[in-house]
Amino acid sequence: MAAARQSDNPDHPFYQAAEEFFPANNKLGLTFDDITLATLYSEILPRDTQLDTTLAEGLHLNIPIISSDMDTVTESRMAIAMALNGGLGLIHYNMPERQQLSEVSRVKNHVHGLIQEPIKVSPDQFIGDVLAVIEQKKFGFSTFPVVDKKGRLVGLLSGHVVKPRYAKKKVSEALTPRAQVHTIRKKELGKDPIARADKFFTEHIGIHKLLVVDEDDELQGLITMSDVDRITQERNAQFKPARDAHFHLICGAAVSATRNAFGELDRDRILNHVGALVERGVDVVAVSTAHGHSKGVGDTVKVLRDAFPKLPLIAGNVTSAAGVEFLADCGANAIKVGQGPGSICTTRIVAGVGIPQMTALYVSARGAAKKVSILADGGITKSGDIVKALTLSQAVICGGIFAGCNEAPGEVVEIGGKFYKQYRGMGSFAAMKAGSAARYGHLPNPNQKVAPEGVEALKEACGSVDRVLAQLIGGIQSGMGYLGAANLSQLREKARYIRVSPAGMREAAPHDVVELKTGN
Ligand code: XMP
Repeated sequence: MAAARQSDNPDHPFYQAAEEFFPANNKLGLTFDDITLATLYSEILPRDTQLDTTLAEGLHLNIPIISSDMDTVTESRMAIAMALNGGLGLIHYNMPERQQLSEVSRVKNHVHGLIQEPIKVSPDQFIGDVLAVIEQKKFGFSTFPVVDKKGRLVGLLSGHVVKPRYAKKKVSEALTPRAQVHTIRKKELGKDPIARADKFFTEHIGIHKLLVVDEDDELQGLITMSDVDRITQERNAQFKPARDAHFHLICGAAVSATRNAFGELDRDRILNHVGALVERGVDVVAVSTAHGHSKGVGDTVKVLRDAFPKLPLIAGNVTSAAGVEFLADCGANAIKVGQGPGSICTTRIVAGVGIPQMTALYVSARGAAKKVSILADGGITKSGDIVKALTLSQAVICGGIFAGCNEAPGEVVEIGGKFYKQYRGMGSFAAMKAGSAARYGHLPNPNQKVAPEGVEALKEACGSVDRVLAQLIGGIQSGMGYLGAANLSQLREKARYIRVSPAGMREAAPHDVVELKTGN
């Protein structure tokens, strides 16, 4: 079809559709920088493009971006930020199973704008102690809920009384008593807590904090007027949060093809754990391994598909159409494609295996006639790579791009006046020791010699996920505007490729100038 259309096109010999371009380059593995996309006639403005994507029945994202299931990338904080921006976070499995359940619960129970664990004080503390904590922790606020030993609300310590002059007074003497504190029951917040809190603040002049309690008057959280104002403004944003049918943020969790002491697939353990994830409301489970076209991964997917017929399943990783077909036949809905493109990966060096990512995506996507989605996993360093990946996939999975964000696990460290966060491959020695060895087909024995397939590294700290995603989304929308693609399916249909020479690649980046870093 596309070939027939192309024959009328004077540009056709140079800029070719995927089904001509990749077979014509079938002797060479190509990755993002090896190709570029041709512009096409467009009536589409970047800001009018739609980025939503359906990965499986019941799994719909408003932006096609997923954060990797890596222990230096995605825990609940990252997953919440991703879903609030319309994407998805996959909680990693390098932690005890019970902890992974709590991480999923945190995302599913997240109420945007509700501070779920506000800093509290007790009636027996002295105001001087509270002042010391504010100083030590550098809090930018001085009003605190006061709770008893059972967590029940007994009052509010207002910033007006948290002054050195009252240092020797007890909190119990200075607090606003419970009867005068404005509260709301958690269930009264309803489906739209922000709208409910907004109404409250409008009706109660001068009140800037709303305390949330349960039936036993135990403190459940705190909503501030400034957060409500910020979120209300953000609601005009083009891309809405990704939510389930009950208005909860969506969340994914990764599992491995866990084996028992005899080296057999531990079906009971996998089923129990995924059952518990489903109870917590997980929206998708990813069977995440380095080699998805394998018996262990196929059997795991089959076991899960039989037990949870409706649960969206991601599986991987593969780099072939045969691999995609295999996992699709086992029951997966979306397949992770990528072996060795990741910024911290050494699989290609250590094992001599893996395929440059654009070729891997094209070859694998041919297996997607089986009605599964393709997820482009790894190697993405800039928004242009995402545009290229999305010409052959339904969404991208990124690790390195998010690892320097505030929401990624781990502390910021300062080295030589610059700020960094740790980022490590799940196949690095340290990560495998912490539990991820099964992903690479090794037993989790710290004394056993294993060949790491990833490195430990640092990423420059880069602020909030919101900011990083805003840049990436802007880039994707520009790319779609250049191709005249109003949505992602048009992007896949319209993409025309050409190879880039090394000189062409140099030409693509700023050159022959001294770049100035102004602005942000
Ligand atoms: P980026 O390029 O986004 O890649 O940092 C993240 C993806 O890399 C994969 N991954 C690994 N691959 N050795 C590998 O060969 C590793 O240690 C490793 N850890 C993560 C994974 O698919 C992730 O999403």
